[in-house]
Parts: sequence; C-alpha cells; structure tokens
Amino acid sequence: SFSVCIFDMDGVIVDTARYHFLAWKKLAGELGFELSPELGEQLKGIGRLEALNIVLKFGSIKANEKDKQKLAKRKNNYYLEFISKIDESEVLPGVITFLKTLREAKLKTALATVSKNASVIIEKTGIEKLFDVIVDGNMIKNGKPDPEVFLKAAEMLEVSPQECIVFEDAVAGIEAAHRAGMKCIGIGNPSVLSKADFVIRNLKEINLGVLEKVPSKGAF
Ligand code: G6P
Ligand code: MG
Repeated sequence: SFSVCIFDMDGVIVDTARYHFLAWKKLAGELGFELSPELGEQLKGIGRLEALNIVLKFGSIKANEKDKQKLAKRKNNYYLEFISKIDESEVLPGVITFLKTLREAKLKTALATVSKNASVIIEKTGIEKLFDVIVDGNMIKNGKPDPEVFLKAAEMLEVSPQECIVFEDAVAGIEAAHRAGMKCIGIGNPSVLSKADFVIRNLKEINLGVLEKVPSKGAF
C-alpha cells in the first residue's frame, strides 16, 4: 500500500490548466492559427519551451532560439495576467477534504509540478499547508514525461517510488509517473487518460478505500 500521495498542480489541485490553454490559444491566434482542445491536452504537463515547440510545429511556424524566447515570454505574460486575480476559489472540488483525510491518516503529501509559476499560484490559493513537500519547475531540469519531478519528491520524503501514487490530469504526467515506477490516478476524461491505472473526474470521487484498490496496468 501507499505511504505518499503526489499531486500535480495545474488541473489537479487548482483550476489553472485552462489558463495555460487560453494563453497558448491567444498566442496562436496572434500567429494566425487556431489551437485545438486536442493539442491543448498534449501541452499539459509539458515545460514552457517544449510546449511552445509543439504549438509552433502545429502552426507550421519556424522560429529561431531568440524568437522562441520572446514568444515563450509573451505566452507567460498572458498566463500571468490570467492568474493575477485567482484565489482559494480556484482550488478544485474535493481537494481540501481529501488532502486533510490523507494527513489525518498519517500519509505524506507532495506537490510536483514543472511550472515555474508555482509559487505565485501556491500563495494566491493558500494550498501550501496541504503539502509536506513541494517540487516545482525551478528545482528540476527535465519536464514531464521525464520522471525527474516525481523522483525528486520521493527523494525529499525519503521513500521509494513504489510507495508513491501520483494524481495527474496530463498524458505526459501519467507517462512520467510510470517511468518513475509509480502508480498513477488520472483526473479527467478516461478516454484521454487511458494509460492511467485508474481514472476519476475529480478528487471528490476518491477516498482511502478506493486508493487501496487501485489496480496496476504495469510499467511503461
Ligand atoms: C504545467 C502545466 C503546463 C505548463 C507547465 C510549465 O505542467 O500543466 O501546461 O506548460 O506547467 O508551466 P510554466 O508556468 O512554467 O510556464
Ligand atoms: Mg496538470
């Protein structure tokens, strides 16, 4: 059984995945093309520059490194504008109750995101107190699907990957969890998150009993 629950941030703990999508959509619109929701799913969990590369490829746009830096910054400015007014109301359904239950049961909790904007969001939404450790994009080299962010969380809590279960809304995040040797519960649409060991709509649908019964589809 598990001793640690590791949570992705955007789209799992706070409702910020939609702002990332809106910011990319705005940038794409300015570059002359429409961003599809399907592409939006591929961008989830991916670092800022890697995501930009996917967006540019989708729009058949070539850019040099300098232009890419500028475009990534422009996207981030849109994103920062979207999140400038967020507060506790962006914390997703079931999060606070489930996280409190875990800690009452003496299980450890970690937040593991590749976002470099995590500290702003954590501060505005007041979620810091829910976690024993927090790993963000400033502490790691490789974004998901690389397992680094999850392995770092396990290392900080001094547990083996097998003791951890990850909660993810991103296809890249599920791959990262499996590559880390961890089980993964998908949060969202089961057809999009088909690689997850188990899928729920939101954290209102989980409790300690369900957690114990999560089946394994095996490693990647
Ligand atoms: C999270 C989000 C991604 C985002 C990435 C980098 O993983 O799911 O959509 O691209 O963080 O975020 P940042 O805030 O550093 O641009
Ligand atoms: Mg996410």
